[in-house]
Amino acid sequence: MLASRRRSCQLRQGTRSSTVHYNAAAMDVPAACDSILDTIGSTPLVRIRRMCSEPRVVIHAKVEGFNPMGSVKERIALRIVEEAERRGELRPGMTLLESSSGNTGIGLALVGAVKGYPVVITMAQKVSVERRQILRALGAEIVFTSKDGGSDEAWDLADRMHAGDPRKYFRVGQYVNPDNVRAHYEGTAEEAWRQTGGRIDWLVLTLGTCGTLVGMARRLKERNERLRVVSVEPQTKHAQQGLRNMSESRVPEIMDWSLVDERMTVTDEDACRTARELALKEGIFAGISSGTAMFAVLAIARRIGTGHILTLLPDRGEKYLSTSLYPRGADPS
Ligand SMILES: Cc1ncc(COP(=O)(O)O)c(C=O)c1O
Repeated sequence: MLASRRRSCQLRQGTRSSTVHYNAAAMDVPAACDSILDTIGSTPLVRIRRMCSEPRVVIHAKVEGFNPMGSVKERIALRIVEEAERRGELRPGMTLLESSSGNTGIGLALVGAVKGYPVVITMAQKVSVERRQILRALGAEIVFTSKDGGSDEAWDLADRMHAGDPRKYFRVGQYVNPDNVRAHYEGTAEEAWRQTGGRIDWLVLTLGTCGTLVGMARRLKERNERLRVVSVEPQTKHAQQGLRNMSESRVPEIMDWSLVDERMTVTDEDACRTARELALKEGIFAGISSGTAMFAVLAIARRIGTGHILTLLPDRGEKYLSTSLYPRGADPS
C-alpha cells in the first residue's frame, strides 16, 4: 500500500508538462481494509520546497498526520499491543495502561476500541483539551496528575497503578518498551528508505520517548554508515507537547546516544513560528513538534548547502487549535 494513498500524475503534452493532482484512473487505489488499524503507517513522504532557500538541498518529510488519528504514535501503539498479544503478556479482559501527553494515548484508545481492550491514560493537566476530548470519544479513561505535574509524574502514576493491580493492567511502557523502537526500525525507517530511493545524508528528528529516533537512526545507519543524525530537543520549561528536554526530564531507557552525531535545542517561539510557516508555505497543517523539527532542518540546510535531509512531522494541527499555536482571528460580532 506504500505511497498509494495520494498519487499525482505527471502528464506530458508536447513540450509542456503539467501536473494533474487528482486522476482516479491513474491511481493505485488501496485495497479494502479489515479494520481502521490497517491504515496505520505507510505515510506519504513530501518534498519541502518553498521553505528551503538552498537550491542544492533536498528536504523530505514523512507526514505522520496521515495516520488515522493524526500522529506517528499510532504506529507504536499497534506494534506494542500486537507484540504483547503474540507473547501472551496481553490477554482478553486486561486493560491497557499508559502515561501519555496525548498522542500515544490516542493511538492506544484507537487500538483498544478496535480490539476490545479498555484503556486508561495518566496525563498532566496541561495537555490540550482536544487531546482529552478525542481520548474520551474513543472510550479511554483519563487519570490526571497533580496540577503542576508533568510527564514524569504521569509516568510514575501509571507505574503505581500497575503495581497495585498487575493482573488487571497491561503496562504499555513506551519509554522502556523495545517494541516502540521496533515499530520505527522495521516500519518507518524502511518506508523512508524505499520512498527516498536510499538518498538520505542527514536524519533530523525530535525526541520524546526517543523511539522514532532510535529505530530510524539504527536502521538507516545500517544501510548508510555515512548518515549524520541530529536529535532535536525543546528548550527547558517548554510548551512543545510530546517532546522532552533531556536535561530537565528523565532520559528514556530506550534512548541510545551513540546513534546521535549532533544535538540541537529549539525555543517555543521558533517552533511555533516554523509550524505556522509549514501551513502557510507548504500547506502542511501540523503540530508544534513539526515546527521544532523543521526549524532544525532549515538550520542544517543553510549550513550544508548541498545534500538530502530526511525529517518526520509527528502530528496534525487540529489538536492544537485551543492553544496559541494558530491564529484565531476575530469572532463574528
Ligand atoms: C507530537 C509529538 N511529537 C514528537 C514526539 C516524539 O516522538 P518519540 O516519542 O518517538 O520520540 C511525540 C511523542 O509523543 C509527540 O507526541
